[in-house]
Amino acid sequence: MKKKFISVFLSTLFFCSLQAQENEITIDPSVCLGEISPFIYGQFIEYMGRCIDEGVYDENSPLSDERGFRRDVLEKVKELNPPMLRFPGGTVVKTFHWEDGIGPKEQRKAKKNLVWGGINTYHFGTCEFIEYCREINAEPVLVINLSTGTPDEAANWVDYCNGTENTYYANLRRLHGYPEPFRVKYWALGNEEAAEPDAGRHQDPHKYVEDVWHFIKLMKLTDPSIQLIANGESQHPEWNKIILKGLDGAVDYISYHAYVGTDEGNPYSIFKKIRYVDERITDFAKLVKENSQEVVKDWKKWYRFPHRTKPVQIAIDEWGIWEQQEPPYGTTNTYEWYHALATAHYLNSFHRNAAHIGMANWAQMVNILAPIMTDEDASIRQTVFFPLKEYRAHVLNESILAKAISPIIESDLASLDVSASIDREKMLLTLFVVNVNPQKLKTKLNFSNCKVDKLLDTTVLSADSLRARNTLKNPGANVVSTKQNQVSRNVKEIVFDSESITICRFKLASFVK
Ligand code: AHR
Repeated sequence: MKKKFISVFLSTLFFCSLQAQENEITIDPSVCLGEISPFIYGQFIEYMGRCIDEGVYDENSPLSDERGFRRDVLEKVKELNPPMLRFPGGTVVKTFHWEDGIGPKEQRKAKKNLVWGGINTYHFGTCEFIEYCREINAEPVLVINLSTGTPDEAANWVDYCNGTENTYYANLRRLHGYPEPFRVKYWALGNEEAAEPDAGRHQDPHKYVEDVWHFIKLMKLTDPSIQLIANGESQHPEWNKIILKGLDGAVDYISYHAYVGTDEGNPYSIFKKIRYVDERITDFAKLVKENSQEVVKDWKKWYRFPHRTKPVQIAIDEWGIWEQQEPPYGTTNTYEWYHALATAHYLNSFHRNAAHIGMANWAQMVNILAPIMTDEDASIRQTVFFPLKEYRAHVLNESILAKAISPIIESDLASLDVSASIDREKMLLTLFVVNVNPQKLKTKLNFSNCKVDKLLDTTVLSADSLRARNTLKNPGANVVSTKQNQVSRNVKEIVFDSESITICRFKLASFVK
């Protein structure tokens, strides 16, 4: 009893001393960190486990519409509002042949999913994917098979999707009921090609460069307007240098994958790791800059298609939280409230690195490491769903400097992590704040080089504990509270709830550029 009293006394003392420190957030619109691409709020679906079949798509479910799209899932996806959707993999692309997934469904070839197990019916194929994208208003990204596919096959896929002339593949799309081209602009040149255990054959970056040129040439000659994502490797600087130099001028993006997990059940460990994502992205951006031309010179006219017109950007085309919860691959993750705080950290980091990131796709949208989980009867929003939705809904088009001074709660982990965005035309500014402190934090707001007219509103996401979770056992319940607060004229100080995410919208009176 005495021991408990002493420990409560000490922690109260500790937190009082924290409160005595002046917590402060400085926001400065004169420091622009780059345009925020809306595509950083993209999602990804793969033929993996129950992501597509029984997740996005279930033709036998009473919960599905006439197209086989799960209505309850679709409703939640629309809330997330992803501006971009990547398909069909992931590792699975190494065995994916797009022609297996077109035409009358009863004639499509069901095949073993050699990578992830199970059977693929391919009843959700290219046209169904495009219909889904149209339904949710998302830009499609298609990933090609470099391993067991051929350059011809990839170019034919481009023609099937985008062809407008009297060609076999454009006509085939018309025959399948789609007179208008799909206009798929973004195409990825493989996925995690360096991974030796996978079914790929490009673990040597020089071989990747040599082979991929054939794919690029045929795909670009089929449709010169497409944009290409080269396969980067987050752990492999040498690989990235070789492919950037080898493909310079021909590719618009280089991919980067970022998954994190918790160490020994300590939630703070994941926050710390994500705070290093900033550094990793900055290093990667530096590498991209040093190994590709800002403006492409000496482009050979005999390529017969145009070179890229903007500097190469990073496509974080898979990111998320991977906790290794269930064998064999640990991808059926149940996310707790602290995972939502971790997600908001990631998004803050993407905002801070806006100048370098052209797109990012949470991996994956349904059932695999996902914000949305389903069973036969219901679907739920996991905790991570809520920051994904609210950040997407509130982000403005330009990232500006925001920095915080706040109490350190464990080794080098500060309580507050922040980012800010601005719309200069509409005179709006949005501040995103994650508070991982178990205490509320009264925080001074210091606006530099601008005057705020008023705080329009705040959206506060919170839960009763870091370990709170939504599960399919109780699909009607929701542990995450979303509070929308009233308009206030007080812009000098805000109290951030404990272990919360707060998004503040301000109307500006003036700013310095
Ligand atoms: O998203 C799950 C898997 O993770 C993808 O198939 C692969 O690209 C990555 O390793």
